[in-house]
Amino acid sequence: MSIIKKMKEDIKKHVEEAGYIVDTLSIETSNRRDLGEYQLNDAMQLAKKYHDNPRNIAEKIVSELKKDERFTNLNIAGPGFINITLSEKYIVEVLNEMHSNLFSNIDKHSEKKVIIDYGGANVAKALHVGHLRSANIGEALKRLAKTLGYNVLGDAHLGDYGRPLGFVVLEIKKMYPDLPYFDQKYNGDYSELSLPITNADLEKIYPVASKKAKEDELYLEEGRIITSKIQNHEKGYYDLWKKVVEISKKDIKNVYDLLNTEFDLWLGESDAAEYFDELNEIYENAHLLKSSEGAKIIDVSKEEDNAPMPPLLFIKSNGTISYETTDLATILQRKKEFNPDEIWYVVDGRQSLRFEQIFRAVRLAHLVDDDVKLIHIPFGTMNGSDGKPFKTRDGGVMTLKSLIELVKDETIKRINPETVAEDKKEETAKDVAIAALKYADLLPFRGTDYVFEIEKFADLEGKTGPYLLYSTIRMRSLLKKAEEIKIDKIKIINGETEKNIGLLLLELDSVLSKSLETKSLNDIAEYLYNLTSLYNKFYSENKVLTEKNAELKESWLVLTSVVYSVNILLLNILGINVPEKM
Ligand code: ARG
Repeated sequence: MSIIKKMKEDIKKHVEEAGYIVDTLSIETSNRRDLGEYQLNDAMQLAKKYHDNPRNIAEKIVSELKKDERFTNLNIAGPGFINITLSEKYIVEVLNEMHSNLFSNIDKHSEKKVIIDYGGANVAKALHVGHLRSANIGEALKRLAKTLGYNVLGDAHLGDYGRPLGFVVLEIKKMYPDLPYFDQKYNGDYSELSLPITNADLEKIYPVASKKAKEDELYLEEGRIITSKIQNHEKGYYDLWKKVVEISKKDIKNVYDLLNTEFDLWLGESDAAEYFDELNEIYENAHLLKSSEGAKIIDVSKEEDNAPMPPLLFIKSNGTISYETTDLATILQRKKEFNPDEIWYVVDGRQSLRFEQIFRAVRLAHLVDDDVKLIHIPFGTMNGSDGKPFKTRDGGVMTLKSLIELVKDETIKRINPETVAEDKKEETAKDVAIAALKYADLLPFRGTDYVFEIEKFADLEGKTGPYLLYSTIRMRSLLKKAEEIKIDKIKIINGETEKNIGLLLLELDSVLSKSLETKSLNDIAEYLYNLTSLYNKFYSENKVLTEKNAELKESWLVLTSVVYSVNILLLNILGINVPEKM
């Protein structure tokens, strides 16, 4: 059990010794530190239950708490609020425990198996700003859940199967009609053929092909035919499609690498396709499919709905399977191959309705056990200063690569040429840029939209990624300079700032749990900033390295080391790398 939970359990025991039973204690950190650091608010509730005056009850509880050396300055305020202050001795103990093992104050949760679906990049199409938030939030949630003991698998869930790919293949056919892929008589091994096309070409072909498909009926029809040839694994077309996926996937991986985003599974929509027949059978047998204008649909509405709930389009009138059905087939695949307890979808809030349709369709057919949780974790958009989703200057879609470059051009100006060698400059600026982007993205509650403000994000001062990196690197260099001093334990706590750091460190477990519960990283981001600025206050108040009192110096170094480890842990959860220097 984490230190903080143990403390709260013990307070509960004291309340019981005073003669009162409570289910869950109402204990909060206080914002009136002069009165107490924690406030216990149960006396008022207990007064009703035990028909007594709340102050009497509070007094009895206080006299029990007084027996515990960890608590000092116990006092009662107002009708019966109990103020509790923690003794310095206890804070020292807590810090020392965290120094010897950070996880003494982090509770492990149950070992649930969770699949997190947070990629969604589309093959042959450049990753763009729309993919930024799912990568940032999904990766951080995955790391958080792993840290807290879940058995997590992150899945890239590539968009590698839809109609657009048929058009890309068609466009390649128009450009290179003589490629063996289009030659019915070709007998060679396709996997040994090389394609005269790079990823950059694909990114150009995609918009051209989509545009033509919109404007030209004939082209549209040709594209559709090719899509179904691919989906039916027809020789040549299918092999070319596989090549396209392979080329594009390599580039997609590179961009995700830039964002420190690592997937455990690189499955795509096409991998779910082989489950479609089985899926179809399940829904047929359950009599859930209805014909409607040549299509097949599932009615997912409920009587209690007070907003219209459109049916889920299962098979389109042209015979192809819809995006929703692909998700259903993926759920069946995940159940068969991984049998997860939960599936989390870190996908734009604008897809909420379709996830509701999908989840309802799952429950109607009991596609997975009813206790398997399916959770859509929606997020808002990153907007430009005009309040609309962020675009390039000429109104186009900004690719993630250009976005990262843009921020890097800003962070490179802030790299200190005296500490960072010329040949490390680019790489460092990249780390700082990613920190700037990620931190700004994770700081607001995920559901809210935010505005892209490059100078603010890249600033070395304020609530920013660069500020956190700069401060963390400074802690590390302080520890490095004191390397030869053996640091073992905190012996003394010397001032208010140090105690406040201790109190904040005590909250680590609650912050992590809360983030996991809300599935948003804002509490962790906020906590990192608070801890770092409090430490910086301490740093400016004290001259650690030149301190003459050896016990004090050792205590300060241990304190620094604990804060540094917590920063590294939390930055890592947020997916932020700490460069050597900056
Ligand atoms: N490829 C999709 C898109 O670009 C996102 C996929 C999200 N995940 C899912 N399971 N549907 O919109």
